[in-house]
Amino acid sequence: MEASRRDFISIGIGALGAVGGLGALYALVRVMLEPSEIAALGAKTEIDVSKIQPMQVRVTSWKGKTLFAIRLPKDFKPEGYTLKKGALNSKGTTNYEILKGHDVFALVGVCTHLGCIPLWKPQGEGGINKPVFHCPCHGGLYTPYGDVIGGPPPRPLFIPPQKLEGNKLIVGVEGFVKELI
Ligand code: FES
Repeated sequence: MEASRRDFISIGIGALGAVGGLGALYALVRVMLEPSEIAALGAKTEIDVSKIQPMQVRVTSWKGKTLFAIRLPKDFKPEGYTLKKGALNSKGTTNYEILKGHDVFALVGVCTHLGCIPLWKPQGEGGINKPVFHCPCHGGLYTPYGDVIGGPPPRPLFIPPQKLEGNKLIVGVEGFVKELI
């Protein structure tokens, strides 16, 4: 009994030492990295977009939130959508203004009404015969760029910082989008 108590204490001391060592290592890594790199630690998602066909959405996650990686046809034009008035992103613009010219990009897949996960409907939904994200909870509808076209969502889907390197879409680092919008 006494021996197992001693073992338990020495294991505890060893564990404390290991934790201390990890703490020192973490401190060392912190001083070696730029603040922006520290902010990105553990918050980077890489997606191989070569496997995403035009009009397909890959569902993954970023910072614990659902993430949509989408590829649109190169000549895709967001015509025929009527955007909800006043539903603008944090830049006071539409998402299309931020993302136009890009056929591969990522959006945070969380409805801006009450946080449900919208569904990708490339054939259309709710009387709209064009690709949309549809949030069935309360009928939210978004364009493929995440702009609101119907229902209660007050603003577009969030656009995470992201960059494209060849076939790799890296979400969580500065690129053609520099910050969360
Ligand atoms: S949570 Fe999406 S429309 Fe309400």
